[in-house]
Amino acid sequence: MSNVAIVTGGTRGIGKAISKKLKDDGFTVAAIYGGNAEAAKACEEELGISAYQCDVSDVEACESVVAKIEADHGGVGVLVNNAGITRDGAFHKMSADQWKAVISTNLDSAFNMTRPVINGMRDRSFGRIINVSSINGQKGQFGQTNYSAAKAGLIGFTRALAQETAKKGITVNALAPGYIATDMTSGMKQEVLDSIVAGIPVGRMGTPEEMAHMVAFLASKDSGFITGAVLTANGGQYIAA
Ligand code: CAA
Repeated sequence: MSNVAIVTGGTRGIGKAISKKLKDDGFTVAAIYGGNAEAAKACEEELGISAYQCDVSDVEACESVVAKIEADHGGVGVLVNNAGITRDGAFHKMSADQWKAVISTNLDSAFNMTRPVINGMRDRSFGRIINVSSINGQKGQFGQTNYSAAKAGLIGFTRALAQETAKKGITVNALAPGYIATDMTSGMKQEVLDSIVAGIPVGRMGTPEEMAHMVAFLASKDSGFITGAVLTANGGQYIAA
């Protein structure tokens, strides 16, 4: 098996915690970042990983970055499709740009990044693909028709690709985090966030490290019998809603 892991959105938030955990578990980590070069450089130095700039909504940029990562480190064994953005707004006020930005960054990216790694995984008869969905892809969220559609789309992608790759030693799973303390949630209106957190039975938001723990579990070579699964980690919010 290859121990090279790509983590998109891997230098900040949940992605950074995933990069750290996979590095600690012995993987050679290539973290992809979109635009924040300063955070990426700091992350490279702090974690001892490599960071690569790439717009994951751009199919050709993804082909190029995967080719570069493979030239630098070797074939990819683990791909974590984590990069995501929000452009929240009630649907009757949502612009086409808000819609397209979220669908292309959060959903098209799964095609753009997975397509260039899949044949290498098939040839080596090993792969771990982990798609970071969301509780809001499972239940829908007021103000997030774009984000909920993209995150639900990732679950369909996961279940279909899992069937296609099962005989090739490649597992494909999704993680569905609830509300996690990151820049994404800290950008929400405080009163809206407070009202959501009040509905989480464990009484708090999750941490990036808790999400990274689950990704590492799915990435392990010992998790070969888990495929097409959606692991939820939301402090009980889904069952209480
Ligand atoms: N259900 C029903 N009605 C709601 C509602 C809800 N959840 N939230 C708001 N409304 C109603 C309000 O009561 C208000 O009604 P009136 O006009 O009758 O008073 C109306 O909708 C407009 O509400 P706002 O004043 O809040 O509208 P806004 O335009 O200022 O804000 C919004 C809209 C930005 C979508 C805001 O509601 C919001 O931030 N919602 C939460 C979105 C969210 O959860 N984002 C998650 C980001 S983190 C993430 O995505 C990570 C992850 O995976 C979990």
